[in-house]
Amino acid sequence: MQDTSDIDQTRRNVLIAGALSASAAAVPIAAAQSPSNSTSTAQTTLNPVTGKVSLTVNGSRFEKDVDTRTTLLDLLREHMHLNGTKKGCDQGQCGACTVIVDGRRINSCLSLAIMHEGAQVTTIEGLGQPGKLHPMQAAFIKHDGYQCGYCTPGQICSAVAALDEVKQGIPSHVSGDLTAQPMLSLDELRERMSGNICRCGAYSNIVDAINEVAGGRA
Ligand code: FES
Ligand code: FES
Repeated sequence: MQDTSDIDQTRRNVLIAGALSASAAAVPIAAAQSPSNSTSTAQTTLNPVTGKVSLTVNGSRFEKDVDTRTTLLDLLREHMHLNGTKKGCDQGQCGACTVIVDGRRINSCLSLAIMHEGAQVTTIEGLGQPGKLHPMQAAFIKHDGYQCGYCTPGQICSAVAALDEVKQGIPSHVSGDLTAQPMLSLDELRERMSGNICRCGAYSNIVDAINEVAGGRA
Protein backbone atom coordinates (compact mmCIF):
# COMPACT_ATOMS: atom_id res chain seq x y z
CA MET A 1 0.00 0.00 0.00
CA GLN A 2 1.24 3.51 -0.88
CA ASP A 3 2.55 5.58 1.99
CA THR A 4 0.25 8.61 2.71
CA SER A 5 3.28 10.90 2.73
CA ASP A 6 3.92 9.78 -0.88
CA ILE A 7 0.34 10.71 -1.78
CA ASP A 8 0.73 14.13 -0.13
CA GLN A 9 3.97 14.63 -2.01
CA THR A 10 2.37 13.77 -5.36
CA ARG A 11 -0.60 16.05 -4.67
CA ARG A 12 1.75 18.91 -3.75
CA ASN A 13 3.67 18.43 -7.02
CA VAL A 14 0.45 18.56 -9.03
CA LEU A 15 -0.58 21.81 -7.31
CA ILE A 16 2.85 23.36 -7.88
CA ALA A 17 2.76 22.37 -11.55
CA GLY A 18 -0.72 23.87 -11.89
CA ALA A 19 0.36 27.11 -10.26
CA LEU A 20 3.38 27.36 -12.55
CA SER A 21 1.35 26.85 -15.70
CA ALA A 22 -1.20 29.45 -14.53
CA SER A 23 1.50 32.04 -13.92
CA ALA A 24 3.07 31.22 -17.29
CA ALA A 25 -0.26 31.91 -18.96
CA ALA A 26 -0.47 35.19 -17.08
CA VAL A 27 2.90 36.45 -18.38
CA PRO A 28 1.60 37.96 -21.65
CA ILE A 29 -1.12 39.84 -19.72
CA ALA A 30 1.45 41.17 -17.28
CA ALA A 31 3.66 42.15 -20.20
CA ALA A 32 0.75 43.95 -21.84
CA GLN A 33 0.36 45.99 -18.67
CA SER A 34 4.05 46.90 -18.44
CA PRO A 35 4.89 50.64 -18.39
CA SER A 36 6.05 50.56 -22.04
CA ASN A 37 2.53 49.60 -23.17
CA SER A 38 0.46 51.60 -20.69
CA THR A 39 0.76 54.82 -22.72
CA SER A 40 -1.01 53.44 -25.79
CA THR A 41 -3.70 51.81 -23.59
CA ALA A 42 -4.37 55.15 -21.88
CA GLN A 43 -4.50 56.97 -25.20
CA THR A 44 -7.09 54.56 -26.55
CA THR A 45 -9.22 55.18 -23.48
CA LEU A 46 -8.81 58.94 -23.41
CA ASN A 47 -9.24 59.69 -27.10
CA PRO A 48 -12.49 58.28 -28.45
CA VAL A 49 -13.16 58.77 -32.12
CA THR A 50 -15.47 61.73 -32.62
CA GLY A 51 -17.51 62.91 -35.56
CA LYS A 52 -19.70 65.90 -36.34
CA VAL A 53 -23.43 65.35 -36.25
CA SER A 54 -25.84 67.97 -37.49
CA LEU A 55 -29.57 67.43 -37.57
CA THR A 56 -32.84 69.22 -37.01
CA VAL A 57 -34.73 68.25 -33.87
CA ASN A 58 -38.25 69.55 -33.37
CA GLY A 59 -37.53 72.31 -35.88
CA SER A 60 -34.26 73.47 -34.30
CA ARG A 61 -30.86 72.92 -35.87
CA PHE A 62 -28.34 71.06 -33.69
CA GLU A 63 -24.68 70.51 -34.48
CA LYS A 64 -21.96 69.02 -32.32
CA ASP A 65 -18.85 66.83 -32.30
CA VAL A 66 -19.75 63.65 -30.46
CA ASP A 67 -18.23 60.27 -29.72
CA THR A 68 -19.13 58.23 -32.78
CA ARG A 69 -20.61 55.56 -30.48
CA THR A 70 -23.27 58.00 -29.19
CA THR A 71 -26.75 56.67 -29.85
CA LEU A 72 -29.49 58.98 -31.09
CA LEU A 73 -31.25 58.36 -27.76
CA ASP A 74 -28.24 59.56 -25.75
CA LEU A 75 -27.76 62.52 -28.07
CA LEU A 76 -31.34 63.59 -27.39
CA ARG A 77 -31.26 62.99 -23.66
CA GLU A 78 -27.68 63.74 -22.65
CA HIS A 79 -26.58 66.36 -25.19
CA MET A 80 -29.87 68.11 -25.96
CA HIS A 81 -31.59 67.54 -22.59
CA LEU A 82 -34.78 66.40 -24.31
CA ASN A 83 -35.71 63.96 -21.57
CA GLY A 84 -39.19 63.23 -22.86
CA THR A 85 -37.79 60.33 -24.87
CA LYS A 86 -37.26 57.51 -22.40
CA LYS A 87 -34.56 54.87 -22.04
CA GLY A 88 -36.20 51.60 -21.04
CA CYS A 89 -34.31 48.49 -22.11
CA ASP A 90 -31.61 50.26 -24.20
CA GLN A 91 -31.60 47.26 -26.55
CA GLY A 92 -34.53 47.63 -28.91
CA GLN A 93 -37.10 45.60 -27.03
CA CYS A 94 -39.48 48.02 -25.30
CA GLY A 95 -40.11 50.95 -27.65
CA ALA A 96 -39.82 53.59 -24.89
CA CYS A 97 -37.19 55.42 -26.95
CA THR A 98 -39.30 55.68 -30.13
CA VAL A 99 -38.88 58.93 -32.06
CA ILE A 100 -39.82 59.92 -35.59
CA VAL A 101 -36.91 60.38 -38.02
CA ASP A 102 -37.68 61.69 -41.50
CA GLY A 103 -41.28 60.55 -41.04
CA ARG A 104 -40.45 57.02 -39.87
CA ARG A 105 -40.53 55.80 -36.28
CA ILE A 106 -37.36 54.19 -35.00
CA ASN A 107 -35.93 52.90 -31.73
CA SER A 108 -33.42 55.64 -31.02
CA CYS A 109 -31.44 53.39 -28.65
CA LEU A 110 -30.47 51.17 -31.60
CA SER A 111 -29.32 53.94 -33.87
CA LEU A 112 -26.08 55.92 -33.84
CA ALA A 113 -26.49 59.70 -33.93
CA ILE A 114 -23.95 60.13 -36.74
CA MET A 115 -26.10 57.91 -38.97
CA HIS A 116 -28.69 60.69 -39.10
CA GLU A 117 -26.68 63.50 -40.61
CA GLY A 118 -29.14 66.10 -41.95
CA ALA A 119 -32.22 64.25 -40.66
CA GLN A 120 -35.43 65.76 -39.30
CA VAL A 121 -36.16 64.30 -35.88
CA THR A 122 -39.42 64.69 -33.97
CA THR A 123 -39.61 63.76 -30.30
CA ILE A 124 -42.57 63.92 -27.93
CA GLU A 125 -41.61 67.55 -27.15
CA GLY A 126 -41.97 68.38 -30.84
CA LEU A 127 -45.44 66.87 -31.19
CA GLY A 128 -47.10 69.17 -28.68
CA GLN A 129 -46.63 71.13 -25.52
CA PRO A 130 -48.82 71.76 -22.44
CA GLY A 131 -51.52 74.15 -23.61
CA LYS A 132 -51.08 73.05 -27.23
CA LEU A 133 -51.26 69.29 -27.22
CA HIS A 134 -51.09 67.05 -30.26
CA PRO A 135 -54.48 65.30 -30.74
CA MET A 136 -52.80 61.97 -29.83
CA GLN A 137 -51.50 63.41 -26.55
CA ALA A 138 -54.96 64.78 -25.76
CA ALA A 139 -56.56 61.40 -26.58
CA PHE A 140 -54.13 59.53 -24.30
CA ILE A 141 -55.13 61.84 -21.46
CA LYS A 142 -58.84 61.52 -22.23
CA HIS A 143 -58.73 57.72 -22.35
CA ASP A 144 -56.30 57.18 -19.46
CA GLY A 145 -53.80 55.64 -21.87
CA TYR A 146 -51.04 55.55 -19.30
CA GLN A 147 -50.41 54.74 -15.67
CA CYS A 148 -46.76 55.33 -14.74
CA GLY A 149 -46.32 57.18 -18.02
CA TYR A 150 -42.81 55.93 -18.70
CA CYS A 151 -43.67 54.24 -21.99
CA THR A 152 -46.09 57.00 -23.01
CA PRO A 153 -43.80 59.27 -25.09
CA GLY A 154 -42.70 56.27 -27.17
CA GLN A 155 -46.30 55.02 -27.45
CA ILE A 156 -47.51 58.41 -28.67
CA CYS A 157 -44.67 58.89 -31.21
CA SER A 158 -45.28 55.36 -32.44
CA ALA A 159 -49.06 55.86 -32.67
CA VAL A 160 -48.71 59.10 -34.66
CA ALA A 161 -46.28 57.46 -37.11
CA ALA A 162 -48.38 54.26 -37.30
CA LEU A 163 -51.49 56.16 -38.40
CA ASP A 164 -49.35 57.91 -41.00
CA GLU A 165 -48.12 54.51 -42.24
CA VAL A 166 -51.73 53.40 -42.69
CA LYS A 167 -52.54 56.63 -44.54
CA GLN A 168 -49.59 55.98 -46.86
CA GLY A 169 -50.85 52.45 -47.55
CA ILE A 170 -47.86 50.70 -45.95
CA PRO A 171 -48.90 47.13 -45.03
CA SER A 172 -48.10 45.36 -41.75
CA HIS A 173 -47.56 41.68 -40.95
CA VAL A 174 -51.30 41.17 -40.50
CA SER A 175 -52.43 42.96 -43.66
CA GLY A 176 -54.30 40.40 -45.76
CA ASP A 177 -53.54 42.04 -49.10
CA LEU A 178 -50.11 43.66 -49.38
CA THR A 179 -51.15 45.76 -52.36
CA ALA A 180 -54.48 47.08 -51.00
CA GLN A 181 -54.93 50.12 -48.79
CA PRO A 182 -54.69 48.74 -45.22
CA MET A 183 -57.90 48.90 -43.15
CA LEU A 184 -57.49 50.24 -39.64
CA SER A 185 -58.77 47.14 -37.83
CA LEU A 186 -57.99 46.39 -34.19
CA ASP A 187 -55.61 43.67 -35.36
CA GLU A 188 -53.77 46.20 -37.53
CA LEU A 189 -53.55 48.65 -34.65
CA ARG A 190 -52.29 46.06 -32.18
CA GLU A 191 -49.76 44.70 -34.66
CA ARG A 192 -48.43 48.13 -35.53
CA MET A 193 -48.11 49.07 -31.84
CA SER A 194 -46.65 45.72 -30.80
CA GLY A 195 -43.10 47.10 -30.54
CA ASN A 196 -44.17 49.39 -27.69
CA ILE A 197 -44.38 47.61 -24.38
CA CYS A 198 -46.36 49.02 -21.44
CA ARG A 199 -45.51 47.18 -18.25
CA CYS A 200 -48.55 48.73 -16.53
CA GLY A 201 -50.85 47.11 -19.06
CA ALA A 202 -52.69 50.25 -20.22
CA TYR A 203 -53.09 48.66 -23.65
CA SER A 204 -56.87 48.76 -24.03
CA ASN A 205 -56.96 52.48 -23.18
CA ILE A 206 -54.06 53.13 -25.55
CA VAL A 207 -55.99 51.42 -28.35
CA ASP A 208 -59.08 53.52 -27.50
CA ALA A 209 -57.00 56.71 -27.68
CA ILE A 210 -55.43 55.84 -31.03
CA ASN A 211 -58.78 54.71 -32.37
CA GLU A 212 -60.35 58.04 -31.51
CA VAL A 213 -57.60 59.97 -33.32
CA ALA A 214 -58.01 57.63 -36.29
CA GLY A 215 -61.68 58.53 -36.42
CA GLY A 216 -62.98 55.41 -34.68
CA ARG A 217 -62.37 53.18 -37.66
CA ALA A 218 -60.83 50.22 -35.78
S1 FES B 1 -35.01 51.80 -24.81
FE1 FES B 1 -35.01 51.57 -26.95
S2 FES B 1 -36.33 49.89 -27.30
FE2 FES B 1 -36.18 50.00 -25.14
S1 FES C 1 -47.83 53.49 -18.54
FE1 FES C 1 -46.34 52.55 -17.32
S2 FES C 1 -45.11 51.42 -18.65
FE2 FES C 1 -46.68 52.21 -19.84
